[in-house]
Amino acid sequence: MNTLLLINLAYVVSAVLFIFGLKQLGSAATARRGNFISACGMLIAVVVTLLDQGIVDFRWIALGVAIGAVIGLLGARLIAMTAMPEMVALFNGFGGLASLLVGWAVLYEADHATFTLVTVALSILIGGLTFTGSMVAWGKLSETISSKPLQFAGQQFVNGLLVLTILAVAAVFITDQANAELLYALIALSFIFGVMAVMPIGGGDMPVVISLLNSYSGLAACAAGFAVNNIILIVSGSLVGASGIILTQIMCKAMNRSLANVLFSGFGTVKTSTTTIEGEINPIEAQDAYFILEAASSVVIVPGYGMAVAQAQHVVKELQELLEENGCEVVYGIHPVAGRMPGHMNVLLAEADVSYDLLLEMDEINTRMPNMDVAIVIGANDVVNPAAKEIEDSPIYGMPIISVDQAKTVFVLKRSMASGFAGIDNPLFFKENTRMLFGDARQSLTQVVREFE
Ligand code: TAP
Repeated sequence: MNTLLLINLAYVVSAVLFIFGLKQLGSAATARRGNFISACGMLIAVVVTLLDQGIVDFRWIALGVAIGAVIGLLGARLIAMTAMPEMVALFNGFGGLASLLVGWAVLYEADHATFTLVTVALSILIGGLTFTGSMVAWGKLSETISSKPLQFAGQQFVNGLLVLTILAVAAVFITDQANAELLYALIALSFIFGVMAVMPIGGGDMPVVISLLNSYSGLAACAAGFAVNNIILIVSGSLVGASGIILTQIMCKAMNRSLANVLFSGFGTVKTSTTTIEGEINPIEAQDAYFILEAASSVVIVPGYGMAVAQAQHVVKELQELLEENGCEVVYGIHPVAGRMPGHMNVLLAEADVSYDLLLEMDEINTRMPNMDVAIVIGANDVVNPAAKEIEDSPIYGMPIISVDQAKTVFVLKRSMASGFAGIDNPLFFKENTRMLFGDARQSLTQVVREFE
């Protein structure tokens, strides 16, 4: 068998491992294995590529691997789970920068076909904007820079002009056989565009932006793969590009917003509904909650951003165990955009050792909701807001929600009547079957747990 065939066979094995690994990432129970399988695929791809390139000096490679491994290990150990989106933003950014550098390096080879120059221009453009866009996203999420949307009059016009300039410079760069000044101009313009594209977006929307930039980093890698004619880079880049855009789409759908609205609306300036909400609020104390829970035979816990703020996940688990000892069935209803990052609730509950089997997705729990004795809403607001079904002029009308209002009794644990991320009122609080347990979620739950004990 000749070497080329062997190399391509190894690439096919890596690609299969990537796809298989990605598939396993779809469920929390198999995600770790999926990650490991994909990493093995990447190891095979890297080793085979290095062996294929006789020109590589392995001392540099070893140094790079050592530095990368130390940074990766420290990052994995030191970064808090809740800071994951920031870390992903940095990873995406550096991925984009790497593709830019690969594209640039190709120019050092003699003679370039037009197709190669097109792919080089693409890897520089997409890689560059992914780099600076991700840095701004990281800054906004970590509040290193203001998370407010930065908008000014004529912004769309300026951005439009920037895109046209980029296209013109790229076209000349390709026809002019990679003139050096144009190369630097292209890099600078892509950096500026990344900043301009992300600055007008509010901090709350950064998880969606990061997922989109993740997709871009894949596309940049794919373009770089074409530039250096490496099949596995093309395949892996396409996989990242496609999975990133699918996640972005899932998040937008769950927030009931279009991608264009996330990117261009400068969220934070939401329109409000004119419909007034009728009904009375029924506040209760921890002891009253205990009496109802003690008699319940099925309970669904629906966590939201407030559970993360209160760090109430451990006491939630305690309550779950006490209820179970009392013969009550307990499940969790997880909305896809509860909290502030994908999988936010899953991560917190996993930290408290809540079994994955008890976490039910929105559709599944909604069908069971009318049979539930009690729904306990812990610091969730938008994701359980029935205005999404009942109030046609509500900004969240049409957003899929967890229908806790269908349970026999609903407890809402929050500190005040304040609104959630979307900034709108919640008719759930005024429903006849709703009881408000005001206070910090962790403190309220601790009191309920004490009553049980
Ligand atoms: P929110 O609608 O933001 O509501 C959170 C509620 O928690 C607030 O109303 C707040 O009320 C309460 N809270 C805060 N601290 C608390 C504490 N210490 N104890 C008890 N309650 C506390 O949260 P949600 O229902 O999870 O919805 C998520 C929102 O974020 C959606 O609008 C979604 O579109 C958006 N979003 C999500 C993502 C992802 S990927 N998850 C990304 C971007 C945006 P009080 O102040 O009265 O306590």
